[in-house]
Amino acid sequence: MIYFDNAATSFPKPDFVKQAVIDAIDSIGSDGRGAHEMTLRASRIVYSCRENIAKLFNAEPTRVCFTLNATMALNTAILGLINQNDHVITTVQEHNSVLRPLYKTGADLTFLPIDGKGNTKIDMLCKNLKSNTKAVVLSHVSNVTGNVIDIERVGKLCKENNLYFIVDAAQSAGVFDIDMKKMNISVLCFTGHKGLLGVQGTGGLCVAKEVEINPLVVGGSGIHSFSHTQPDEYPTRLEAGTLNAHSLAGLNASVSWLNENGFAGLREKETNLAKIFYSEICKIPEIKIYGDVLSKNHGAIVSINIANEDAGMVSDALYQDFGICTRAGAHCAPLIHKAFGTTKQGMVRFSFSHQNTEDEVRQVIEAIKQLLP
Ligand SMILES: Cc1ncc(COP(=O)(O)O)c(C=O)c1O
Repeated sequence: MIYFDNAATSFPKPDFVKQAVIDAIDSIGSDGRGAHEMTLRASRIVYSCRENIAKLFNAEPTRVCFTLNATMALNTAILGLINQNDHVITTVQEHNSVLRPLYKTGADLTFLPIDGKGNTKIDMLCKNLKSNTKAVVLSHVSNVTGNVIDIERVGKLCKENNLYFIVDAAQSAGVFDIDMKKMNISVLCFTGHKGLLGVQGTGGLCVAKEVEINPLVVGGSGIHSFSHTQPDEYPTRLEAGTLNAHSLAGLNASVSWLNENGFAGLREKETNLAKIFYSEICKIPEIKIYGDVLSKNHGAIVSINIANEDAGMVSDALYQDFGICTRAGAHCAPLIHKAFGTTKQGMVRFSFSHQNTEDEVRQVIEAIKQLLP
């Protein structure tokens, strides 16, 4: 089997991550609930994970709030800050984890368009400001094209115009540099199981100092048990219920590794594989490629179609005939497919990791050649 579906979830997980999860299952109690050794062990791991995440993103450890995934983090940020009287600027490259919470707020939405290569037209941001614009919400890296938005530039515009800046870092955390303070990010939403190399069931939001989010979920917090409302202080404010401390132990191990070793080398390896793939398949006339793959900053994602073949059929054939795992369809990002005219056909997405090899890339190129009409 060849795994080119790392934008869905990274695979395989590092051994030290697996071991950290197993050790936690064998040794910890419930974080923040009581004071015996088992709970303290859980609390130390969870706090260490907050510190590691904070270090990675230049965030405040006590304002790193854990959720099950990026989707829950984005719901918390969007529904906790935006209401129907607000105007929000977002983009057509967004995933449904941004779009659906935004639609749910009832807010007035402006979608920045893309150019022919899928690059978001950030130049149009200022022209679309209104008196009630409250926030810019966008994904750092598109999960369809791999194109990168310059979030430092957007953060500067948000600061100048006094707007919240909510960033979906699902595809960029652990891959591209993110500095919440330097980039003026109000809320950074991440998932633990992609570039951060952790297991599924982890994610969270890092909340900047001046930002106060209304909790989406309320309930058990381990503190202030007689209060009718969720405690105001972070991270408890956004963390009702028992945390997934077993999986956070894995995330703690992987993010600690990323902090110590850096990730630029991993990114270079995977984006290089994407470029090798691109530079071969772009020679095939029947292949249509979406995205600005050769640009200086690009995620290790290449989405393609073969002539007018249905993307699902191509992806199935790649797996059934060659054991190659890809992702077909709309990738939960409906507006970018509308923009590219691929709502019916979909696209076949190849997403590479530093663990893939050039040999695997060559095998997939040969497989694609065999599938040509
Ligand atoms: C750009 C983007 N945003 C959000 C998400 C949601 O992440 P999760 O499924 O971990 O909640 C994904 C997942 O693929 C994504 O690619």
